[in-house]
Amino acid sequence: MLHSALINVMVKAARRAGRSLKRDLGEVENLQVSLKGPANFVSLADKRAEQMLLEDLTKARPGYGFIGEEGGVRAGDDKTHTWIVDPLDGTTNFLHGIPQFAISIGLQREGTIIAGLIYNPANDDLYIAERGKGAFLNDQRLRVAGRRKLGECVIACGLPHIGRGDHDLSRLEMTEIQNKVAGLRRFGAAALDMAFIAAGRLDGYWERNLQPWDMAAGQIIVREAGGIVSGIEGDDDPLKTGNVVCGNEFIHAELVKILKPLGK
Ligand code: IPD
Ligand code: CA
Ligand code: CA
Repeated sequence: MLHSALINVMVKAARRAGRSLKRDLGEVENLQVSLKGPANFVSLADKRAEQMLLEDLTKARPGYGFIGEEGGVRAGDDKTHTWIVDPLDGTTNFLHGIPQFAISIGLQREGTIIAGLIYNPANDDLYIAERGKGAFLNDQRLRVAGRRKLGECVIACGLPHIGRGDHDLSRLEMTEIQNKVAGLRRFGAAALDMAFIAAGRLDGYWERNLQPWDMAAGQIIVREAGGIVSGIEGDDDPLKTGNVVCGNEFIHAELVKILKPLGK
């Protein structure tokens, strides 16, 4: 399939960093048995991947700004374009050798995300989208699931871990949703949760307290697959509030109806 020059740049960068993460995943699996544990090693793997993405993306598009989870904000001369990058989304999974993690690259132009890529090097699933051009998984066009009844839906969520977020609220939300759906899941990589919405594997997803790099690519991939992405208020911008709900228009609306009042 022919991609735009922009998507080619993103894919090339993601595949190089992905090879590095995949090698490091093999190493993590060996380190699991060592006494020192693999946590430091994973944080190095994470930084190494970000460094590669920074090098390749800034080489191909000099001047664009770069916001990466590991390295913070690097302003560029071109004030209109910014890469928003998570070099390793799903760190806890990676650390435990669970192959549900991804590189996430979003490109923002004057406040709007115009391109996104999510790549899981463990199974080579590559999701891409460009504004107005649709979303694709390994070159196959994506469309969100069409289910309209929550009782038939598989919904994913995030769970705040130790010392983070509001655990009581999270439990309350889970209980409410659990009572109404066919299945509730927690996969542990926000970018892939959103990619799964675009691919129609999941019908809905919500999570609070995320960062822009968790969602920038996912947002455009879901929208280009015909889905709705918003904050939990229903009309807020997830990149600003850090809260996200997505699904097709019916399931998105159902989830907002349940979740919005709980957060008050
Ligand atoms: C995390 C994952 C996880 C979500 C966390 C994120 P990280 O990102 O996306 O699914 O629940 O809130 O921080 O730390 O693995 O890049
Ligand atoms: Ca992340
Ligand atoms: Ca990360």
